[in-house]
Amino acid sequence: MASAVTADVQARAIATERAAEIEIAPPSRREFLYYIWTASLVLLLGQAGAALIWFALPRFKEGTFGGTFGFAPDRVPQPNSAPVTVPEGRFHVVHSDAGVNVLYAVCTHLGCLPRWNPAENRFQCPCHGSQFALTGTYLAGPAPRSLDRFATTITFTDGSTATQNEVGDAIPLDGKTIASVAINTGRRINHGSKT
Ligand code: FES
Repeated sequence: MASAVTADVQARAIATERAAEIEIAPPSRREFLYYIWTASLVLLLGQAGAALIWFALPRFKEGTFGGTFGFAPDRVPQPNSAPVTVPEGRFHVVHSDAGVNVLYAVCTHLGCLPRWNPAENRFQCPCHGSQFALTGTYLAGPAPRSLDRFATTITFTDGSTATQNEVGDAIPLDGKTIASVAINTGRRINHGSKT
């Protein structure tokens, strides 16, 4: 009986010793690499999620440069009259025989601000003399191309909408009445030529 008790005590002692060994055993190389890999993956997924949220959020508030501007229909100029300038949006709204367009107010030469000269019926740049027609088309001077345009969507009272084509030509009105104008100053269209 005594020997059975002794064997039992010894067995428990051995079990306790092994359990202690198991508890304090350092992680193997494989386990260590697994932990590192898991931590890296979690970090990477966290960064990817944060980047996704960052890009999904709008960068610019509506009505601030870089964002979208609403423009009241009754402010759209009459055909071939002086442009309407919106300094905070850095654009001119123009209306020519071809239709309505929105021109980026910055000169395509070295970035000065051409001004509308009603006497000459054209934009003239104060820095090096480049000139542009009401449509933004290059007329003279060192500028390499016509004025850039901002992507614009016009919604008409009949529910239809229209935008510029890929080179930013004016949006024809075709006798329709404008209900609203949305100007995206975050998307500039390079007209790409002097014409
Ligand atoms: S910046 Fe306009 S002509 Fe040079």
